[in-house]
Amino acid sequence: MKITMSVIKADIGSVGGHIAPSQKLLESVKQHVREKGRGLLIDSHISSTGDDIAILMTHTHGAGEERVHKLAWDAFVAGTAVAKSQGLYGAGQDLLKDAFSGNVHGMGPAVTEMEFEERPGEPVLFFAADKTDPGAFNFPLYLAFADPMNTPGIMLSPKLGKGFRFVIMDVEHTEGDRVIELSAPEELYDIATLLRDPERYVVESVWSRAAGTQAVSVATSRLHNIAGKYTGKDDPVMLVRTQMDFPATGEVLQPFSVGHFVAGCMRGSHNMPLMPVKMNAPISWFDGPPIVSCTAFCTRGGMLTEPVDAFDHPFWDRVRGHVADKAMDMRRQGFFGAAMLPMNELEYTGIMERLEVIEKRFTVRSMKKAA
Ligand code: F6R
Ligand code: MG
Ligand code: MG
Repeated sequence: MKITMSVIKADIGSVGGHIAPSQKLLESVKQHVREKGRGLLIDSHISSTGDDIAILMTHTHGAGEERVHKLAWDAFVAGTAVAKSQGLYGAGQDLLKDAFSGNVHGMGPAVTEMEFEERPGEPVLFFAADKTDPGAFNFPLYLAFADPMNTPGIMLSPKLGKGFRFVIMDVEHTEGDRVIELSAPEELYDIATLLRDPERYVVESVWSRAAGTQAVSVATSRLHNIAGKYTGKDDPVMLVRTQMDFPATGEVLQPFSVGHFVAGCMRGSHNMPLMPVKMNAPISWFDGPPIVSCTAFCTRGGMLTEPVDAFDHPFWDRVRGHVADKAMDMRRQGFFGAAMLPMNELEYTGIMERLEVIEKRFTVRSMKKAA
């Protein structure tokens, strides 16, 4: 059976700062999707990661289906009313447009969708990250789908050995989707050359070359490119199908043990390590650290199993400790050098405004003529 999995995610308000949505807010979104999604959706799962609420939906209507997008948009609009009534912080923050127009692309919420023929056993991982941006997934996807040091399946399984096709988007280009397709392993160095710059080039999807089927789908929106001003980091979501023609679940999870540095954290303006956390985890230290959750499902006829928390295991407690150490080490150097993002990635305008004033006070010393 061919099914579509759609994830639409937004920050529409949170308790105690940019920490986590309230239970009442979550419940209102759940109730909306449950009631209005009847007859449209096969199944759904609503969760939070930091201050974001993600609506995961299964259906048969394909990607970009207006009714599915409208359902999520309306759920967020209804949630925003609840957020406002509770005095939640940043109520409706990610709803950048007033009226729904066809689909939620470019309207604020992050979207990722994948249409696929269900296999007899269909394991899917749903990743949600907060206090960072879509480039955060470049590193784990490169390792999981292109590096046999991470994924022994690339050597051990003839299917994986045929390699993977990466679709990569230039997210600086706002006039339309500027994409390139590159195949691993032949074009590995080209893939590496792009993915080393995660603020500009972002993996949008990954495909098995052996089966021609899609393994990965990432939400690539950059909010500040849409709004033209600071609106918070872009807090991406990602779907990954695993096993058989694709890397095993453990091969996909492994790169997250590195705690690689990503853009985000406090005021969306720092480099901080990405911490794998349990489902529905809040934000804390230094408005971070940037976090990622991973919920595992299987589907049959679009029906989801119960969610299993892929990062709720003693192994990841050790990783979390390691990532906290890395984060505190970086924080010790405050705003200096690599700790803070370069000028064009800062999410607030204060530094630019200050620089404009200081610039005028610079003088150029006249050079003494050589004797
Ligand atoms: C980062 C983030 C927070 C806020 C910070 C200040 O993405 O959401 O770190 O930037 O808490 O928030 P405001 O400007 O809303 O007071
Ligand atoms: Mg927020
Ligand atoms: Mg967020």
